Amino acid sequence: MYRKSQPAVLLLLLIVIAFTNVTAQQKSIAQKVDSVLKLMTLEEKIGQMNQYNDDHTATGPVTLDNKKQEQIKNGQVGSLLNTVGTERTRSWQQIAMQSRLKIPLLFGQDVIHGYKTTFPIPLAEACSWDLNAIQQTARVAATEASASGIHWTFAPMVDIARDPRWGRVMEGAGEDTYLGSKIAYARVKGFQGNKLGDINAVMACVKHFAAYGAAIGGRDYNSVDMSDRMLWETYLPPFKSALDAGTATFMNSFNDLNGVPATGNKYLQRDILKGKWGFKGFVVSDWGSVGEMINHGNVKNEYEAALSAVTAGSDMDMESRCYKNSLAQLVKDKKIPVALIDDAVKRILQKKFEMGLFDDPYKFCNAAREQAALNDPEHVKVAKEAAAKSIVLLKNQNNLLPLSKNTKTIAFIGPLVKAVKQNKGFWDVEVPGVDSNFIVSQWEGLQNKVGSNTSLLYAKGCDIEGNNKNGFAEAVEVAKQADVVILSIGERRDMSGEAKSRSNITIPGVQEELLKELLATGKPVVVLINAGRPLVFNYTADNAPAILYTWWLGSEAGNAIADVLFGDYNPSAKLAMTFPRSVGQIPIYYNHFNTGRPATNDANRNYNSSYNDESIFPKYEFGYGLSYTSFQYSNLQMSKKKLKANEQIEVAVTITNTGKYDGEEIVQLYLRDKVGSIVRPMKELKDFQKINLKAGEARTIKFIINKEKLSFFNQQLQWVAEPGDFELMVGASSKDIRLKDNFELIK
Ligand code: BGC
Repeated sequence: MYRKSQPAVLLLLLIVIAFTNVTAQQKSIAQKVDSVLKLMTLEEKIGQMNQYNDDHTATGPVTLDNKKQEQIKNGQVGSLLNTVGTERTRSWQQIAMQSRLKIPLLFGQDVIHGYKTTFPIPLAEACSWDLNAIQQTARVAATEASASGIHWTFAPMVDIARDPRWGRVMEGAGEDTYLGSKIAYARVKGFQGNKLGDINAVMACVKHFAAYGAAIGGRDYNSVDMSDRMLWETYLPPFKSALDAGTATFMNSFNDLNGVPATGNKYLQRDILKGKWGFKGFVVSDWGSVGEMINHGNVKNEYEAALSAVTAGSDMDMESRCYKNSLAQLVKDKKIPVALIDDAVKRILQKKFEMGLFDDPYKFCNAAREQAALNDPEHVKVAKEAAAKSIVLLKNQNNLLPLSKNTKTIAFIGPLVKAVKQNKGFWDVEVPGVDSNFIVSQWEGLQNKVGSNTSLLYAKGCDIEGNNKNGFAEAVEVAKQADVVILSIGERRDMSGEAKSRSNITIPGVQEELLKELLATGKPVVVLINAGRPLVFNYTADNAPAILYTWWLGSEAGNAIADVLFGDYNPSAKLAMTFPRSVGQIPIYYNHFNTGRPATNDANRNYNSSYNDESIFPKYEFGYGLSYTSFQYSNLQMSKKKLKANEQIEVAVTITNTGKYDGEEIVQLYLRDKVGSIVRPMKELKDFQKINLKAGEARTIKFIINKEKLSFFNQQLQWVAEPGDFELMVGASSKDIRLKDNFELIK
């Protein structure tokens, strides 16, 4: 007995010591912050709340300002964004060190899916459902960025998104709150590493607070009109999860929420975030969003904009200059107390101390470390693995894939085959001194894979956009000479991203027509679809025998695609977002309500909730994705069928790999609360496991159902689990439910 408990006691002691150390450290940082604050003039304080764009690149509308250096010297700037590289960050920091109080600058950057080494766009990566892999890519991104002078990434973006017209769906984790919350947590942990202050940790910035993903009609920067219940139940949880993971900062958003711009929204920032949730870090505005409240029609001028934003809890003003121009006057006019400014400044200084910048402002400016980090071969491996894990196999008629490595002639056709930078996706960083050579194109990837017995033929066929079919004839000739055709089509990488909403989300140009011509040759055609969002491609879906949705996979795209094409990696990804059949079906998502007149099939659409001219089903549902092998689900067991609120049910299910290949399966657990004081969705993802099974192997996996998984926000916005009947569903997608049972929550 004694022997057994000794390690436990030791562990407890270590935890207590560690906790005491952390608290002591925080206390001493708080003291340091106070002592710096005491020395600051009002103007210097306001300076800390002011963030400028460096002139290197711009990620928003630029305000010309040739006095930035002078202002930094005067202590009027707290942070810069879009400054990258040790050399450039060092030179700006040197200017800050000429200021009276020598308060270091913070350098922020959109490191969204990698820094130099580029990873799959976040939506693609979300399809891996692989939390370890996701955490790892964020870790590598932070390692490279921090080595290159960056302190702070404007990521992760955790906006739930149900409208693929919105270009920014590429930046998030898709439509589901549960999956999105898990991924938000993993990404924050990845960016921030063990703790802020470590040499390879960058501060995370969870964005966009809040509900930006619900912009009406999927039009970027548009308004959001949403019930409080929807906000709390669907849109806020990923933010809370990121907070629980310890995110250092939040970014607010461009949209208004029910008529109040998020940047000036006291309910969101002051009441929920800093109040109810107790967030201790700081909030940065989105680019120019303080000033944009004038356009919203919520404030009259910059003075009122600054008043509204600072009162609501926005601590730092990105690029609008409203704080710089108006905060001092607002204090003078007694519209805001200095205490409000002090609170914001303390939060910002606290992070600068935690990052170790007061000890050494050039801590992240080591050129030798930068070189080593940017050329670490381990990072390439991480990128390749993450890319392979993000590819979704949508269709594989007659097991056309994987291709044999003995295939004699392969025709690789399409406008994206030889593209290089396209593979990087939207948010790539222009790292100084780095060209695009390290990005593996799809052509190169295939060349790396096939042996000397295989000949590879190429034709471009057409452009991504436009009506030009002049290349069709050559493409058809090339196809005729081949045993198999691979066609790589899709969007340009900058067709999905910020300010890239589209009303038409079909595959652009004549690319699907090219496919038609290639299919007419009678050759088997594998289609690769490159995109930043779910596209509509009914012709391809219905006629191509095999389809891989490759998204934008990053710098190892070519190698990862080749691995999947030839079965060196068995695809395992499942869609994190529903794919519609037509734009008219949008918004379309799996966890909808049943309605009073539910539609259950396409044959009968009369007097039920459906469109007369469109199927009730999406093209591909949330959670869908194939493998080269097959999985059987059996033997669903529950430890009990009735549970009280303080109890739990253990659910066991056996998964067997019944195919010829080893493979991974993402087993999804959904629940339906059959009767609720607030109507409950048809099903909600409540857990999942990604397991790896050898061909023929069977494994029993377990899930736990507890009160938390049964709870929702009731009309009074209380988080409750209501007694009653629940349906339990275990499946391979939100539609492909393999096993079901019922249980009851009793009083
Ligand atoms: C985007 C943010 C981004 C910021 C800085 C804004 O336009 O909405 O997500 O972090 O620019 O680049």
